[in-house]
Amino acid sequence: MKPKVYITRKLPEEVVSRIREVCEIRMWEEEEVPVPRFVLENEIAKIDGLYCLLTETIDRTLLEKAPKLKVVSNMAVGYNNIEVSAATDRGILVTNTPGVLTETTADLTFALLMATARRIVESSGFLRSGQWKTWSPMLLTGQDIHGATLGIIGLGRIGEALARRAKGFDMRLLYHNRSRKPDAENRLGLEYTDMETLLRESDFVCVMTPYTPETHNLIGKAQLALMKKNAVLINTARGGIVNEDDLYEALKKGTIWAAGLDVFEQEPIPLNHPLLTLPNVVTLPHIGSASVKTRLKMAHLAADNLLQALSGQRPAHPVNP
Ligand code: DGY
Repeated sequence: MKPKVYITRKLPEEVVSRIREVCEIRMWEEEEVPVPRFVLENEIAKIDGLYCLLTETIDRTLLEKAPKLKVVSNMAVGYNNIEVSAATDRGILVTNTPGVLTETTADLTFALLMATARRIVESSGFLRSGQWKTWSPMLLTGQDIHGATLGIIGLGRIGEALARRAKGFDMRLLYHNRSRKPDAENRLGLEYTDMETLLRESDFVCVMTPYTPETHNLIGKAQLALMKKNAVLINTARGGIVNEDDLYEALKKGTIWAAGLDVFEQEPIPLNHPLLTLPNVVTLPHIGSASVKTRLKMAHLAADNLLQALSGQRPAHPVNP
């Protein structure tokens, strides 16, 4: 008998057909509407494998309804949407998709850094709304990127890929991480610092760390107060790492100069959110890994993990301890 799989969003057919060859599948057919919780609760009771996205909360309560479940394959490198300890307690494998999205996410992070520093979105709006009257010495002036100091919080694969891009802009590179990475320091000229030094000395602070209970609100009022007045904060990791109320206050009062955000505590961010009223915030709808090639690679890698686990092999990317 084929294993039963539920897929929580409409995936490209080339991925679905690979899974269909060996599994009996059911799929939430919508592309832009997440599967409702009650549907997932009903489906999970019957399946051996779950293929899900970061938009689904896979918690203990849900997993308790899944007597046969062997694997939860997340189509993302981050897996804070899954209660891994609850899965481990029940002998359920959890997998993610590292590696394939590293360069694409670093591209987007650097693009967001540049867009924020040079006020690209604001300037475009300025022109289109008819405000451009003349060239003027200090009109829409931003911050230099070349030669500036970049502080990377969390030096994983994406953090390193960002450092490689920044090297091309002659930036001084600082990083803070749980552990030092001497090899990356030598290769990329990165300097390890404590958090306080990184925040004090950086012109650009990029949050690149996974979201865990330890990194929840890692950047709040006290950390923002340490940053330079002309500093730019970039977050392409997860929303909950930066306290949004404190960030709003800091941007409004001029404690820091600007922020570029691809991720939010609540996604989609509500349209009446105070951060969306500020001209010095560039906001994107969580598109770090969103290139056609990379999203296909992620979808295939998540399928690989799922199929490996269901066939009794060790999947390529398990995250359970
Ligand atoms: C991830 O994979 O965790 C990103 O946030 C989406 O690509």
